Amino acid sequence: MHSPSQIIIFGATGDLALRKLIPALASLAAKNQPANGFQVVGMSRADKSTDAYRAEVRAAMTPDLLEAWSKIEPNVTYCRGDVNQAADVKRLSEHLDALPGGKRCGRLFYLSLKPALFSDAITRLAEAGLLEAREGDEEVWRRVVIEKPFGHDLKSAVELNQHLHRHLREFQIYRIDHYLGKETVQNILGFRFHNAIFEPLWNRQHVEVIQITVAEELGMERGRAAYYDETGALSDMMQNHMLQVLAMVTMEPPSSLDAKSVRAQKVAVLEALRPPSRKAMARECVRARYSAGTIKGQPVPGYLQEEGVPPGSTTESYVAVRCEIDTWRWAGVPILLRHGKRMPSRFTEVQVQFRTPPIQLFNRPEGISDDDFREKLRSGELCQMRPNVLSLSLQPRERIGLSFGVKRPGPSMVMAPATLNFDYQDTFKSQSPAAYERLLLDALLGDATLFLRGDEVEASWHFADALHDAWKDGATPLREYEAGTWGPEESHDLFHGCEGGWTRG
Ligand code: BG6
Repeated sequence: MHSPSQIIIFGATGDLALRKLIPALASLAAKNQPANGFQVVGMSRADKSTDAYRAEVRAAMTPDLLEAWSKIEPNVTYCRGDVNQAADVKRLSEHLDALPGGKRCGRLFYLSLKPALFSDAITRLAEAGLLEAREGDEEVWRRVVIEKPFGHDLKSAVELNQHLHRHLREFQIYRIDHYLGKETVQNILGFRFHNAIFEPLWNRQHVEVIQITVAEELGMERGRAAYYDETGALSDMMQNHMLQVLAMVTMEPPSSLDAKSVRAQKVAVLEALRPPSRKAMARECVRARYSAGTIKGQPVPGYLQEEGVPPGSTTESYVAVRCEIDTWRWAGVPILLRHGKRMPSRFTEVQVQFRTPPIQLFNRPEGISDDDFREKLRSGELCQMRPNVLSLSLQPRERIGLSFGVKRPGPSMVMAPATLNFDYQDTFKSQSPAAYERLLLDALLGDATLFLRGDEVEASWHFADALHDAWKDGATPLREYEAGTWGPEESHDLFHGCEGGWTRG
C-alpha cells in the first residue's frame, strides 16, 4: 500500500481554495478516493492555527458536504507562511516531513495564487529541494498544479513555460482548465470516438458551420472587477476554456486516451486555428461591453459602473469571432465562437450544423411551378429546409440534441422540425461531480490527459494575440450591448454565407 499523498495548497484562504478545492477534496474522501488517502496542508500568509483554519473551511462548506468534510478534517493542517520566503518554505518542508509518510508521500503542490507569484514560488520550492522527482516513480512523485491564466500573451506564456521547465519536467506540470473537468466536455471525446456514425460526417464535406457559445449572466460580482478589467472576455474565457472545447470538437482521433496521444491531437488542431486576417477583422470579430440593463427582472449596472472598474476602461465583456481551421478536415468551415457576461441566461453549447441536401423536394406549396418554387426559395419568400443540427449542451442542462425533419401527417409532403434528445440527469439520475473533483483526482493519480501541455497554451495565445493586436490597432471598435441582451447586432453578421444564427441555448 502506498503512503497517503500530500496536497499542499498555496493561497489556502482564498476563494478558489475554500469554495472549490477543499470541497472537491472532501467529496473525494467521502468516496474513498484515491484509495491510499491524502492529507491536505493549507499555506497562506494569514497567521492562524490549524484549528482556526479548519473552522474557516467548515464555515465555507455547503451543507451537503459537511459530512464529507468531517471525514477529511483531521487530515487538514495549516502552515502559516509566504511561499516566496525561503525560511517559510523550509518550515513547510519540515511540516510535510513530520506528517505520516513524510518524504515517502507523493506531493501535489497547488498554486492557487496570483499569476505574478507563480515563477518565484516555483523557484523557492525548487531551492528547498521540494520538486525533485524521478519519472515513473509512483510513490515519491512531486507535481505542481497551476491555475490559469498561464501568462497574459504568447510572450509571457513562453517565459512562464521556460521558467517552469528550468525547475520541473513537463510530466510534473499540471496546468488546470476546469472546463476539462466537466463531464459533458469529456463526453465530447466519448461521443465522437465511441459512436462510429458521426465520425464520417465530422468534416468539411458535411459540416456547414460550428458554433460555440459560453453565455453568462454574471457580471463583476464578488469584487472580480480588479482581475477582470486587466483580463477581458477574450483572455478570461475564450483563450482557454472555449479553445479547449473547440479542440475537443475538432481534433483528430487520438490513438489512445493517454495524455500523450490526446494532447498531441489537441495541439495539432489549435496550431491550425486561423484567426481572421487583419483585413477581415472588422467584419469577423465583434467585441463589446455591457451597459446597464435587466437580467431576469433585476436591474444591473453597466460595466463601467461596476465597483472596481476604472473610469475610461476599454475592457471587453463580450467577444464573438469567426475563424477557420486550416486542416484537410476543416478547411473552409466557419468556426464561430461567442462569449459574453450579462447575457439573458447562462449556458454553454456547441452546435454542429450540417449541410442541407442539394435540392429541396419538400414543403412545396400546391400548384406552384418549378421556376416559381426555385425563385421563392432563393428570395427567401419560402422557407428553405432546415439544416440538421447536433447540439451539445454542456451546462447547466447537460444534454445532446439532434434536430431533423419529419413528414407532417397529412396528404402532402410537408416536413416539420423534430429533435432527438438525450439528457444526462434523466438518464443517469445523478448530478455530475464537480469539475475540480475529477481533475484533482487525476492529478493525484498522475493522469495528465485533462491538463494542458505547454505548447497547447502557447498555441491558444497565438490565436488570442492576433485578436488583441488587431484591437490595439483599432481594427475592431468596442461596441456596447445592453445587459440582459444577446450582444451587439453586428455579431449576427458573422454568419454571412451560412444558414442560421446564434443559439439561444
Ligand atoms: C472562470 C472565469 O475561469 O470561469 C470566470 O475566470 C467565469 O470569469 C468562469 O465566470 C466560468 O466557469 P463556469 O464553470 O461557471 O462556466
